Amino acid sequence: MPREIQLRSPLDMHLHLRDEEMLKLVTPLTTETFAGAVIMPNLVPPVDHLERLLAYRERIMAASDGHRFDPLMTLFFRNYTEQELAEARDHIIGIKLYPAGATTNSEAGVKAIDAVEPTFRMMEEMGIPLLVHGETHGFVMDREKEFLESYDYLATKFPKLKITMEHITTADAVAMLDKHENLRATVTLQHLVITLDDVAGGMLDPHLFCKPIAKRPEDREALVNAAVNAHPKLMFGSDSAPHPIEKKECCGCAAGVFTAPLALARLAQLFDKYGKLDNLQAFISDTAQQQYQVSPPEKIVTLSNEPFQVPEAYTGYGQHVIPMHAGESLEWTVSKVQ
Ligand code: DOR
Ligand code: ZN
Repeated sequence: MPREIQLRSPLDMHLHLRDEEMLKLVTPLTTETFAGAVIMPNLVPPVDHLERLLAYRERIMAASDGHRFDPLMTLFFRNYTEQELAEARDHIIGIKLYPAGATTNSEAGVKAIDAVEPTFRMMEEMGIPLLVHGETHGFVMDREKEFLESYDYLATKFPKLKITMEHITTADAVAMLDKHENLRATVTLQHLVITLDDVAGGMLDPHLFCKPIAKRPEDREALVNAAVNAHPKLMFGSDSAPHPIEKKECCGCAAGVFTAPLALARLAQLFDKYGKLDNLQAFISDTAQQQYQVSPPEKIVTLSNEPFQVPEAYTGYGQHVIPMHAGESLEWTVSKVQ
């Protein structure tokens, strides 16, 4: 008999679903097995008005294939008025801040943090979390480390503002979690599994190129150690970021790794390797429920210790997307969803 585990209401706390045809292709690949996900707002134009957000939410629900699923919506950070925040509050899980130009579709992001402090103050007062892509414009391997002082500043200046350090990639960021009560973080699958060597140490692998870029073995080790030991402030956020194949296999490759359809299976394999399968429930749902005070719909996902052949590509609606681990065999598979 294969070994099995059951996960209750998995949550993906950082997900890119895009729009139009790509949205139709990728949304069911998440809604099938996840009970909810934090939806990123970096569309073109960005999701920075409530009407646009509500319409986007409708399109996500229409694409979700009837699966029980809560899209936890985010607005794209800009200076908002008090009235805009008050109206949006009940419809959003937080507001996502991108430094201008830090990654895909972030040109409309923030240029100077001190110019937007009135909005942070109002968010703090209204209990609206701030989600942050924490990178400077420095040397690519140091961007996250350099941004940590901004986290320090924000967490100190706005002590009641809940701040999520999105997709952390370094041992320094893990250590930062212990410094401020109001900081928590997400980590992706790829940053738990790969280092920069897998991206560019041999033949270049554009499908593993993302922002922040994968770091050193000791960084990955710190991330894995925190995740498999159910760090109380570290949540799973896939940052699954589909791009059409022609935007990845080209000069000027777009940043983003597509992991949504294999994330649960690959995480089970990782936690099993460390003998920590019992901690996967916390990492995949319970910690996020506590941190954000959310109650996702009931969904029981059974995973079995049996091979899962990752497809070479996901295609449909005229789209063609290559996942991480394309064509490889994983050691765990989703065997039932109830
Ligand atoms: O690699 C990334 N891709 N990092 C991000 O922060 C954004 C994402 C995307 O939207 O493609
Ligand atoms: Zn992202």
